[in-house]
Order: sequence, then structure tokens, then C-alpha cells
Amino acid sequence: MAGLVRAKPACVLGLASGETPLPTYEELIRLHREEGLSFAMVSTFNLDEYVGLDQSDPRSYAAFMHDRFFRHIDIDTSSTHVPDGSAEDLDLACAEYESAIIAVGGIDLQILGIGADGHIGFNEPISSLASRTRVKVLTEQTRQENARYFASPDDVPRLSLTMGIGTILEARALVLLATGEHKADAVARAIEGPLSAMVPASAIQLHRRAIVIVDEPAASRLALSDYYREVTAAKAGLGAIE
Ligand code: PGA
Repeated sequence: MAGLVRAKPACVLGLASGETPLPTYEELIRLHREEGLSFAMVSTFNLDEYVGLDQSDPRSYAAFMHDRFFRHIDIDTSSTHVPDGSAEDLDLACAEYESAIIAVGGIDLQILGIGADGHIGFNEPISSLASRTRVKVLTEQTRQENARYFASPDDVPRLSLTMGIGTILEARALVLLATGEHKADAVARAIEGPLSAMVPASAIQLHRRAIVIVDEPAASRLALSDYYREVTAAKAGLGAIE
């Protein structure tokens, strides 16, 4: 990401909220503070947002992004976008989100987490692989997983706005991050399982430039991990991974 921002200062980053990308944001903040990495011309689009939470609500993803990343760097906040889950007309907000992505020339690099149920963004199982930004009903599993951010599990919104899988696949590059044993099954199904709407993250198999970065626990159920190590070593020997 830092390399992209240096090479293309007005790049468009697709960002994710949640636990997984926090170390990434922390490192980018460090590079900003210590090495002058500037985000002044960068635009960002986040994957998703809860319906019914205002952007100023501390439990919203807009507030999360501001608190954990944007306020620590020199980004112009008017260039940061999160779907508006408090919009009166949600369908219109979704259509405008798609238009805003097109207006800046598309997303250069999209960061993705993965849910234990295989979701990317809030594209839950059986999301259309061609879907666009829209309203999605959250699964019970996702609501339970995210309950830690709310006073009670019942407070977790039932609806979300999320970029569609079709929207995500149009980013010029994808980076999927996963850490921890609880993600191992979803990671294996996404990477090695059949392409299926039951595992929305498996859609990254369709992308020409998708990089998956996992720690050992998240990689523990991959059948071909020895081969992936060999590929990584071979590519390192060839220079930059393209
Ligand atoms: P997490 O969420 O990074 O908090 O695990 C990822 C996701 O649900 O997409």
C-alpha cells in the first residue's frame, strides 16, 4: 500500500474495517509520522457500514476508520468514503457510492478481511458474485462475531450496506488479509474450495491480481501450503512480485 501511495500519490484505496487490518493501518501511520508518507491526495472507499448508525456513532465503521486511521494521517477527510448507512434512501446511497468510485477512476488496491462464514465486505453466503453496492441482511454468525463492539448482541444492526462482489472484483488489485485459527476454515474454502456464492471470498479466484496474506494459524487448513511457500520463495528470487 505504501509503495502504491508513493508511486501514485492520488491513488484510490479500498479499505476494510474490523480487527484484521489494524496492524496495517498502524504501520501506515508510522510511515506517515516517521518517513513522511503523505496521503494528502489519496481517496478511500470503505467496503461496508451498518444501516441505522449515523457516521458520528462510535460503533459505526465511519467512526472506526476515523478513529483508527484517518485522524492520524494527513488525508483530506472529504476524500474518505464510507457507505452512508443512515441515508433516508438506502438504494440511492448505494447507487451514489458506485458512481463516486467510478468518478475517481476506480479503486487501485482493495484491502479485504474475511468473515468466519466466508464473507468479504458484508457479502454474506449466497451473495451474487456479480453484486453491486446494496443492502444486505447480516447472518446471525456475523452479528455474534461483531457483538463485542456493542453493549448487547441484540444491539448489532441486522442490515448493512456493502460494496458488492462485482464492485470488489473491479478493483485493480486485491489484498485479502486473515489472521488467527478461527479464520483457517474460511481461508481454505476461499482459496482452495470451489468458486461458490456460498463462500463469497472464493470470488477472489476470478481476479488476476489477488494477493492473500495469512499468518500460520489462518493458513493451517490449506492443503497446498508447501507449494505456496515454494512459489513465494521462487518469486522472491525473481524480484518484485507482480
Ligand atoms: P475481522 O472482520 O477483521 O474483525 O475479523 C473481518 C470480516 O468480518 O470481514
